[in-house]
Amino acid sequence: MEIAFKLNGEQVTVQTEPTARLLDLLRYPLGLTGTKEGCGEGECCACTVYLDGDPVNACLVPVFQVRGREVLTIEAIDRHSLEPLLQSGATQCGACTPGVVMMATWVTTRPHLLEQFSARELMAGNLCRCTGYDGIIEGLQAALDVDGAEDGA
Ligand code: FES
Ligand code: FES
Repeated sequence: MEIAFKLNGEQVTVQTEPTARLLDLLRYPLGLTGTKEGCGEGECCACTVYLDGDPVNACLVPVFQVRGREVLTIEAIDRHSLEPLLQSGATQCGACTPGVVMMATWVTTRPHLLEQFSARELMAGNLCRCTGYDGIIEGLQAALDVDGAEDGA
């Protein structure tokens, strides 16, 4: 089946099984290996990408659902967004890092969410088996401070 969608700003058309997982399509035929597989069943958020601007678990999305829509992967994220997380000790093996960055970047564009939820609650879906969560939360906080400082400049 032919499926057309926008991927990281470019229009793409792929031949694929409609029920193939978006995660597999991204990593193998399309070569975007920045999106990682952790649990493969919607529990860890290592495979987080944006679908029409909102985070989804690519391991749970059948490809037919992205037809005519827009997918953004870690490859499209400005490296600037990664710095606070990379510097906070939030990475070790790196398997969770792309998903953490995708979620944290999404949160930094919606700071009003922090009026309702703590940073730890917002990141609760992203599982990390290596580092503990303090570094991730500190990195998110630092990213929010950076963005806040830039917004105010
Ligand atoms: Fe998709 Fe864990 S690999 S949620
Ligand atoms: Fe290894 Fe998070 S750094 S799973």
